[in-house]
Amino acid sequence: MYMDFLAVTQQAAIAASLWIGKGRKQEADEAGTAAMRENMNRIGMRGRIVIGEGEMDEAPMLYIGEQLGTGQGPEVDIAVDPVEGTSLMAKGQDNAIAAIAASSGGSLLHAPDMYMKKLAVGPQAAGRVHLDWPMSENVLSVADALGKKVSEVTVMIQDRPRHERLIREVLDTGARVRLFSDGDVTGAIATALEECSVDMLAGTGGAPEGVLAAAALRCLGGDFQAQLLPQHEGEVERCIQMGLPKPGTILTLDDMVRSDDCLFVATGITDGMLLQGVRRRNGAALTHSFIAYRGSHARYQFIESYH
Ligand code: FBP
Repeated sequence: MYMDFLAVTQQAAIAASLWIGKGRKQEADEAGTAAMRENMNRIGMRGRIVIGEGEMDEAPMLYIGEQLGTGQGPEVDIAVDPVEGTSLMAKGQDNAIAAIAASSGGSLLHAPDMYMKKLAVGPQAAGRVHLDWPMSENVLSVADALGKKVSEVTVMIQDRPRHERLIREVLDTGARVRLFSDGDVTGAIATALEECSVDMLAGTGGAPEGVLAAAALRCLGGDFQAQLLPQHEGEVERCIQMGLPKPGTILTLDDMVRSDDCLFVATGITDGMLLQGVRRRNGAALTHSFIAYRGSHARYQFIESYH
């Protein structure tokens, strides 16, 4: 089934890429969303959107709870982000991707659209960090797990004023930071791929992106921990409505993706640290995608395709 989902992110990336650098976030997102939905409806499954473009009354397509697929086959929970990095895309900047995660029915966390504190590491450091620990302890533990000096550890953090203290804490340990403007799903995945030279992702970002990243890390054998950060009473209420009565609880990878029967697929829209963006040559489109799938063991592939 993972090849079916590959077509979904490929077509979303191709459709969205027409809007690269046009300053039109919404149009880009709509193009990616429509392509994703059309291609997902061809898959032999009883799919249900768990993480989508919004509630039914605010999103015409890929809304939370929407049923997708042919209506025959396995029940599948689906998390989508047709354009992860809409601002990047609108500005013609690097690292925009089309991403999707799928897992057996009932196994993905229904995360409300709010901020989430996140911590991600790759397989070698899995089980050696904790969201509750001070950053200095996590950095030391990751260095030990990877057999590196602390000064060689690199922590990815989204470049936001809210992360000033976190950045200072990392720098005080002697470790390196790698700041990025948008796209923390890519940052989380990078921790599990040696070629990206990133050891940990820390900081606060969107909860929907957190579930996508958690699925990817589950497929890659890494670790992802999170904590919802409701900003006001309304968001606390929202957590309760969505079956999360204690929003401050630390969520483990098992809380977010409760099955090994899962996959994550992303296709580059613009060039980035993980993937090349969509290219056009003689009327054909060239895409670069990343697929991670779990089953009995963690596996991933990079796939280049002509369309
Ligand atoms: P877009 O909304 O432009 O797609 O940005 C995505 C993103 O950078 C995520 O990767 C991240 O989780 C979230 O935004 C962070 O939110 P904020 O921009 O409010 O800091």
